[in-house]
Amino acid sequence: MTVTVTYKGQWVAVCNIDDLIEGEASVFKAGGYEIYVVPIDGEIHVYYGRCPHAFGELAPSDFDGSKIVCNVHQWEFDPKTGASINPKGAKLFRLESEVRDGVLYVKVPQIPVVEFKEKYFKMYESL
Ligand code: FES
Repeated sequence: MTVTVTYKGQWVAVCNIDDLIEGEASVFKAGGYEIYVVPIDGEIHVYYGRCPHAFGELAPSDFDGSKIVCNVHQWEFDPKTGASINPKGAKLFRLESEVRDGVLYVKVPQIPVVEFKEKYFKMYESL
């Protein structure tokens, strides 16, 4: 099940979609947030680039083309839903995104990261 969490934020141009490579993740930074971009099967999935286990920073190399494996303690996530595969019950935080005129825009949360972590991230630890 896909859970969509709405949040206040500011739309930021992150990259040209031509710069993304199918099956390879990229990390961008904006407003103090890491933005994890995963193009797979013709769709672009965008997550907050931190792991819901212990807030580990996701790296491009964590995506092996079929799943995202956090490099800190090896939790595994489905790149299309953000749901954890092993162990089950956690989820990456999907950031709102859209493509306009070939540019990927991401809605970056407008609150400080520490506040965001408290308000939105803890809930994902138990999904
Ligand atoms: S911080 Fe990602 S698995 Fe622990």
